[in-house]
Formats: sequence, C-alpha cells, structure tokens
Amino acid sequence: MIDSLTPIAVLGAGRVGQALASRLHEAGFHVWFGVREAPPLKDEGAPKRLLVEDEAEPEPLPVPEVPRLGIHDAVRHAGVVFVALPAAAAREVLVDAPLPNGVIVVDCTNPVRWDNGPVHDPPAEGSMAAHLAAALPNARVVKAFNHFGAEIQSDPSMAHGSADAYVAADDAAARADVIALASTLGFTGRDAGPLRNASLLEALAVLWIHLATVGGQGRQFAFVQDGRPSA
Ligand SMILES: NC(=O)c1ccc[n+]([C@@H]2O[C@H](COP(=O)([O-])OP(=O)(O)OC[C@H]3O[C@@H](n4cnc5c(N)ncnc54)[C@H](OP(=O)(O)O)[C@@H]3O)[C@@H](O)[C@H]2O)c1
Repeated sequence: MIDSLTPIAVLGAGRVGQALASRLHEAGFHVWFGVREAPPLKDEGAPKRLLVEDEAEPEPLPVPEVPRLGIHDAVRHAGVVFVALPAAAAREVLVDAPLPNGVIVVDCTNPVRWDNGPVHDPPAEGSMAAHLAAALPNARVVKAFNHFGAEIQSDPSMAHGSADAYVAADDAAARADVIALASTLGFTGRDAGPLRNASLLEALAVLWIHLATVGGQGRQFAFVQDGRPSA
C-alpha cells in the first residue's frame, strides 16, 4: 500500500515532475524531487500549481514546498520512484542510483521522435518500461501517468469526471498500489494488465501528442473509458 508515510521520489523537476509532485504534495504524500543539481529554491512566492494560459506546452513552475535532493539521496529510502526524465536519460540515471530492493518505479516517460508528427520510437525491448525493467531486476517497474499532458497530471478533472490513468505492470501488488494511488490523486485508475502493455500506453501517448499538436485539439483533454448505462 502507498500511503502518506511512503517516501516518494520524483526524478526530474520539469513539466511532468512539477505537475506530479504538486499533485502528490497537495494530496498529503511525503514527496521530494530528485534532480541532478539541487540548488536552493529562488522563487518562494510562485504558485505551486501548473498554470496554463494558452495551448503551448507550459513552462514548469516551482513547487516551493517540495524539497530537492540529488538523485541518489532522493531514491535511497524511497518506496516509490516516479521517472519524469527524458526517455534517453532514464536508464542511465536509474542503473547508477541506489534503488532499494522492491521499490516501485513508475515510468512516465515516452520514447518519441518527430516525423511530421510524433512517432513511437522505443528501445529494443518494445517499450521504455520494459527497457527499464530489464535493467533494474530488483525494482518493480510500473508504466503509468504517461498518456496525457502535464496539465492533466497537475489536475485530472474533466468535464464529466476524471481522466483515466492506465497502469501496466507485471507485479500485481505494485500495479494495484499505483492504481489506488492514481485514484487517490483524482484520476480514474485503471488496470492495463502486464508490463508488455506498456508499449500500448506509450502508443496511446503518441496518439495524445498527435491530437494535441498536429491534430490541432490543444492540450486540455484526456482519454476517458466509458460504458453503456447498466440495465
Ligand atoms: N510534457 C508532457 O506533457 C509529458 C506528458 C507525459 C509524459 N511525458 C514524458 O515525461 C518525461 C519528462 O517530460 P517533461 O516534459 O517533464 O520534460 P522536461 O520538462 O524537459 O523535464 C525533464 C527533467 O529531466 C531532467 N533531466 C534531463 N536529463 C537528465 C539527466 N541526464 N539526469 C538527471 N535529470 C535529467 C531535467 O533536469 P534539468 O533541468 O537539470 O535539465 C528536467 O528536470 C519525458 O520522458 C516525456 O516524454 C511528458
């Protein structure tokens, strides 16, 4: 179970890192950043929510209450590690880090290249999550929080409910824990099955990016699984 006493490290303090850390902090979780340089925060008065005023990808704003540690200090005692790093950097950062045995590593990355639009460009294992799982045998790798923009990670409320957060992992307990965490954060946490389905969630992210950019739909949407009314 992931609760308010579980130490949570968010690696990367960019758009996704700031949005997730903000959401976790507001929900009462014990969260800190892991960054390659941990300077003192300068902008103490800045709002902690990601503010989006137009459809361009927003710059991250500081989350003053969330401490910043170096990557190794951040992960050393963590129960959960969110990976909010560029896909190209994630493996190298994590294999060097002192991850505790059994730690849940939530992979939020998307391996994407651009060719008149976003194209899924995964490592040989088929997804970034599988790539990380192969490199981190003592971690429980979970794919989640990758298939919507940072604005949705900051605030998952939609016109008719909450954004879906699909969660894929081979470790059933870790998958259940992250589904529950997603629901606590205001998403509709959904079971996406084993880690092999991480490639589908990365492809779903590519669809989201396509729709948001070349598709002209902007960034204020998320996928919501619906069903027929029960009889
Ligand atoms: N942006 C979105 O809406 C979105 C949505 C879903 C998923 N994603 C995925 O989430 C990941 C992060 O995206 P983002 O938009 O948050 O990126 P971003 O704003 O560029 O932030 C990336 C963060 O990673 C850090 N970083 C880069 N290389 C590093 C290294 N070698 N070692 C340690 N830290 C390093 C950067 O630190 P410095 O400040 O020191 O450079 C920065 O804090 C990507 O894989 C992306 O595909 C993005």
